[in-house]
Amino acid sequence: MASVYLKISILITCLIFATAFQLLLPVSEAYYSRSLKVGYYRSKCRTAESIVKSTVRSYVKRNPGLGAGLIRMHFHDCFVRGCDASVLLDPTQANPQPEKLAIPNFPSLRGFEVIDAAKAKLEKKCKGVVSCADILALAARDASYILGNISYKIPTGRLDGRVSNSTEALLNLPPPFFNLTQLVASFARKGLSAAEMVTLSGAHSIGRSHCSSFTSRLYPTIDPTMNQTFGASLRKRCPQNTTNDGVVPQDFVTPDKLDVQYYKNVESLTALFFSDWALLTSGETNKQVETYTKEPEKFKQDFINAMVKMGSIEVLTGSPGEVRGTCRFVN
Ligand code: HEM
Ligand SMILES: *[C@@H]1O[C@H](CO)[C@@H](O)[C@H](O)[C@H]1NC(C)=O
Ligand SMILES: *[C@@H]1O[C@H](CO)[C@@H](O)[C@H](O)[C@H]1NC(C)=O
Ligand SMILES: *[C@@H]1O[C@H](CO)[C@@H](O)[C@H](O)[C@H]1NC(C)=O
Ligand SMILES: *[C@@H]1O[C@H](CO)[C@@H](O)[C@H](O)[C@H]1NC(C)=O
Ligand SMILES: *[C@@H]1O[C@H](CO)[C@@H](O)[C@H](O)[C@H]1NC(C)=O
Repeated sequence: MASVYLKISILITCLIFATAFQLLLPVSEAYYSRSLKVGYYRSKCRTAESIVKSTVRSYVKRNPGLGAGLIRMHFHDCFVRGCDASVLLDPTQANPQPEKLAIPNFPSLRGFEVIDAAKAKLEKKCKGVVSCADILALAARDASYILGNISYKIPTGRLDGRVSNSTEALLNLPPPFFNLTQLVASFARKGLSAAEMVTLSGAHSIGRSHCSSFTSRLYPTIDPTMNQTFGASLRKRCPQNTTNDGVVPQDFVTPDKLDVQYYKNVESLTALFFSDWALLTSGETNKQVETYTKEPEKFKQDFINAMVKMGSIEVLTGSPGEVRGTCRFVN
């Protein structure tokens, strides 16, 4: 009997402590609790957005490919644990397999040095204020303007995550051999529609691909879903049985322009991936591809809306989020 009373009183004591803790939590969290809004840093670090912009500009002018890298990096960040800069974390003894080492990211993901440079300037100016997740979202926005004259406001106020797991990257990032059903499902899991998937795929009008991402379409025979002339020229740039993995532009016509040429390439079967061709395999997505080839302004507007939406996937705005001191390591 006595032991039952003891257990009950221990239980009650625990409950009291747990409640007290809960009351304390909002106080310690308040400092870190944010909400996404356009111009979040205006009052906290007035020049935050212009510092990111000037940094991105200086790197992308020298190497437009880095702009493509930043747009892709933002996508790969947002699809794994939300837009929380988890993709930026380096391997450590405690966490030897972060996202950036996963097959879809390594060694193809690029632009990390741009984020590092912006972060270093921001830490000097406004220590501990601007999150790496926001820097990446702003950098992708600025790259879209430089490469595509696509200009938009993006809400900020994201916090940085403390977890990065390569298996999660592998499970959440769509590979280039996915068919339409699989692509649509992959985007739906992140709250994005088939139409938004088609719109965001337009980013394949810039940057490059490693041969290994599409050689299964070249050998032993050129995939019948690929333009055979195009396939023959790709074979020359991506020979079989070599140890080094070459790269080719995504868009051979306007390689450094974020424009609707991608959709023209999809139609002429001269886009690199099976996943690009797959956009032609339903009436609706096929029609959307065709519309974009004729209405570049519509593509621009849809791209803006889809990027803002992608940038809000599962964002961290409170505990356990933090503002990292350096984007490669948790605090
Ligand atoms: C629809 C599903 C998608 C698949 C299957 C896919 C797959 C790929 C693959 C395999 C590469 C080449 C990587 C390499 O070998 O170097 C690539 C490059 C790229 N992707 Fe995607 N992607 C998809 C969607 C997106 C989205 C939504 C965006 C951004 C909004 C994006 C932006 C890019 C960019 C900019 C590059 C060039 C990167 C560079 O030059 O460094 N992709 N993608
Ligand atoms: C850039 O985009 C704006 C708005 O869409 C447009 O008014 C302007 O003409 C474009 N500039 C160039 C150089 O294409
Ligand atoms: C990474 O994620 C996978 C899949 O969710 C999980 O099985 C694994 O335990 C995680 N690894 C670590 C180190 O947390
Ligand atoms: C897409 O791939 C999945 C998995 O391999 C398969 O079950 C499905 O039938 C495919 N869908 C189409 C339309 O090819
Ligand atoms: C490439 O290697 C494969 C086996 O590894 C072989 O069957 C094929 O004949 C080789 N092709 C060329 C062009 O050397
Ligand atoms: C195949 O690609 C070439 C350019 O590489 C293009 O001129 C031709 O129109 C394309 N063929 C078809 C059927 O779209």
